[in-house]
Amino acid sequence: MSMRVVFLAPSYPPEMIEYTRGLAEIGAQVYGVGDTPREALPPRVKPYLYDYLQVPRIMDEEDVMNRVTAWLKSRGITTVDRVLSNWEPLVILAARLRERWGMPGMSVDTVRGFRDKQLMKERVAAAGLRVPRSKRVRTERETRAAAEEIGYPLVLKPIAGAGSADTHKVDDAGELDAILAQMRGVTEASCEEYVTGEEFTFDTVCIDGKPAYENVAQYLPKPLEMRTLEWVSPVIITVRDMQQPKLAAGIELGRKVLSALGMGDGFTHMEWFLTPKGEAVFGEIGCRPGGAHIVDQMNYTGDIDLFREWARVVCHRRFEASTARKYNAGIVFKRAQGRGRITRIEGLGDFLRECGDCVVEERLLRPGTPRRNWKHTLLSDGHVLVRHPDWDEAYRMSFLAATKIRMYAE
Ligand SMILES: Nc1ncnc2c1ncn2[C@@H]1O[C@H](COP(=O)(O)OP(=O)(O)O)[C@@H](O)[C@H]1O
Ligand SMILES: [Mg+2]
Repeated sequence: MSMRVVFLAPSYPPEMIEYTRGLAEIGAQVYGVGDTPREALPPRVKPYLYDYLQVPRIMDEEDVMNRVTAWLKSRGITTVDRVLSNWEPLVILAARLRERWGMPGMSVDTVRGFRDKQLMKERVAAAGLRVPRSKRVRTERETRAAAEEIGYPLVLKPIAGAGSADTHKVDDAGELDAILAQMRGVTEASCEEYVTGEEFTFDTVCIDGKPAYENVAQYLPKPLEMRTLEWVSPVIITVRDMQQPKLAAGIELGRKVLSALGMGDGFTHMEWFLTPKGEAVFGEIGCRPGGAHIVDQMNYTGDIDLFREWARVVCHRRFEASTARKYNAGIVFKRAQGRGRITRIEGLGDFLRECGDCVVEERLLRPGTPRRNWKHTLLSDGHVLVRHPDWDEAYRMSFLAATKIRMYAE
């Protein structure tokens, strides 16, 4: 008999459509729950939804829990097999529903370890792993005291942030005043030691906390800079050769973090630093896939479909795709100069003439399209995705796209 799966937010953000597809393709009946009106669901997602409930406020956990419970009852459904979410703001809600209905899957407490940035560091540190020194702070007074203790430079970020929104590097006490003023809306933050070095991801699809699939990608530059410097074209490249000594400490750290936090089945997305001395330091982790097309990048790295394999893992605890890595896949996000609508793109023709054979996606916003807000979304004004078996070539082509393709909105 096919599995009944309640999947929260099956069409938003847009990549959720792919997970919905994956679930349907492995034979699950997907009961989607979201705040998108049924009529406004993207046509592409409809064939994969067995049923759909629109709720007025997807973030209102109590209300959603009551409505979903009543809805399933009205459909005569007494049991479902899974409650899942791959979107960070809803992972706790999914766990709460599982607990309410007495279902398998990670508990609310376990999921909190992936959601609360201070708790996760405490749990990871308790396992003897290297995390930035940090303190949970709730008031300006506490923040100033923590800053004295931790020292500068430091990082200040909301406890439950994502996408580097509201994450600040603070160089001295003077800067702290300015940043505290900007963060007045934030009720709880993590104040931590600034870790220098390169920044990488460690992504997995886990079965019972053990990676059935692993990936490492490098951020160029680090996300904090991607989000503060508009002129930068952010580059992220998956690393084909995961056996190289440079990454060993980070991968080992990643695996240990998963057991320290009690990971169950599904995607994880961790960020870590490699210090100039070669030490791997924990950054943060989520029990959901990374955003900004990183799953597409992983798929291009090995010519596989992780959207479907994830579904197979969470429903049947089997991972059937190849884990062989064929390419380094580099994504380059572009930002137009100017405001309003895109007016022109320069250098794309030359770039495609030189690297076209290695370009797997080119989705730059076309002239006439309004610019996206680069502060709100790393997707910025579109991207180019290249891949190559050699790291140096993938790197060279990514930076060629970063520097030679120019977009304008003026
Ligand atoms: N302790 C730290 N030391 C150095 N850089 C940091 C530190 N914490 C965060 N950052 C930078 O800020 C970015 C965003 O912080 P992160 O904890 O990942 O929050 P978010 O949930 O917003 O992604 C990181 O990717 C990294 O570039
Ligand atoms: Mg992050």
